Parts: sequence; structure tokens; C-alpha cells
Amino acid sequence: MKKSFLPVFVLAALLFAPGGLEAQELNQAAYDNIITHYAARNNFISGTISRGDIEKILVAGLRAPSASNRQPWHFTVVQNSALAGRIVSGMPDGNILIVVSSSGDGRTNGPAILDCGLATESIYLAAQALGYGSRIYTGPMNTVNSQFKAELGLPAGHNAVALVRVGRVQKIDAASAASARKSLGDIVTYK
Ligand SMILES: Cc1cc2nc3c(=O)[nH]c(=O)nc-3n(C[C@H](O)[C@H](O)[C@H](O)COP(=O)(O)O)c2cc1C
Repeated sequence: MKKSFLPVFVLAALLFAPGGLEAQELNQAAYDNIITHYAARNNFISGTISRGDIEKILVAGLRAPSASNRQPWHFTVVQNSALAGRIVSGMPDGNILIVVSSSGDGRTNGPAILDCGLATESIYLAAQALGYGSRIYTGPMNTVNSQFKAELGLPAGHNAVALVRVGRVQKIDAASAASARKSLGDIVTYK
């Protein structure tokens, strides 16, 4: 009988020991990735991105959460630099654009737009986690949707919601690279 208490004791010790399971639950690298990103612009440089890395970045997008798990997005990877350069000017060779699109126009399909926003953010963060620079753009969306849908081969009925530019970057100090943010005191209410 006495023997059977041993595993229970060991489990309890693991659970309640100071710092016990905490180390397993803490993922400092994931947290740092979320809070230290910045939108690259002037420090993009030329250089290729491997197909493997592109797919890792895309997997981050497809793992994003969506309302009722509808996954309404489509990702169009623009590697053709002539085409990419007509959408976002001044891109060094090797920079790519990932266009996130969905059916609907944002008025009748609200959750899908939010879903695409979440996928966009995951793509943006994954690129930086892999050591690339990235930047989200919505400025070119009107032009993309009025002039580039056919050339990009967007799925029928889709509109582009956002695009993420990904490329190699000249390393800069990430802590000072991002623009200032408001403070918690400015934007948080506790009730
Ligand atoms: C939804 C969204 C749309 C954006 N559209 C553009 C854009 O059209 N052109 C651009 O240069 N940057 C664009 N950005 C990048 C933002 O300007 C940038 O992320 C923001 O200023 C924060 O910069 P930081 O990461 O350096 O702090 C966009 C960002 C987001 C989230």
C-alpha cells in the first residue's frame, strides 16, 4: 500500500515546487518575437529567400485562427520582381510580396477581413522570427484590386486585404528600429 503514495508525492513535488512546471510553460522567444518586431523599410537589401523559408512563413499564415475555423484566406506569393515592383516600388531583388486575399468586400464579410488580418500578422511575425525583414501594406490594395487581380491570378471573387513584403535586411538595432508606441496608461481601462 505504502508504495503507491510515491508517484503521487513525486507528481505533487513537481507541480508545487517553486518554478516547477513554469519553465515548460514560458516561451520567452515567442513573446520576444511578438514585442520586438518592427516594420522594415529602408534596410531591405537584395538576396534570395529559400522556398523552404517561404513555406515556413506561409504555414504560420495558415495556422492563424479564424472565425468558426473558416480559413477564408488565400496567399499569393509574388516572386517575379518586375511584377512585385509595379505593386510596391523600390524593392531590392529577391524581396517578395505575399498577398492575402479573401472573398467579399469587407462590408458584407467582416469576420473574413479580421481573419485575414490575423493571418497577415502571423506571416509578418514569422518572417522576422526566421531572420528576414517584413512590412505589412494596405496602401496598394485599391490598385491591386482594380488592376492586378487577373495578373496575380487571385481566386475568383477574391479581393486582396493586405500584403506582406518579406526580404533580407541589413541588421539594425531592433529595439530602436520600431516607432514609439502609446503607453498602457493611454489605452487600457481596468474595471
Ligand atoms: C494594416 C497595416 C497597413 C499598413 N500599410 C502600410 C502601407 O501601405 N505602406 C507602408 O509603408 N507601411 C504600411 N504599414 C506599416 C506601418 O506603417 C508600420 O507597421 C507602423 O508604422 C509601425 O512601424 P514600426 O513597426 O516601425 O513601429 C501598415 C501596417 C499595418 C498594420
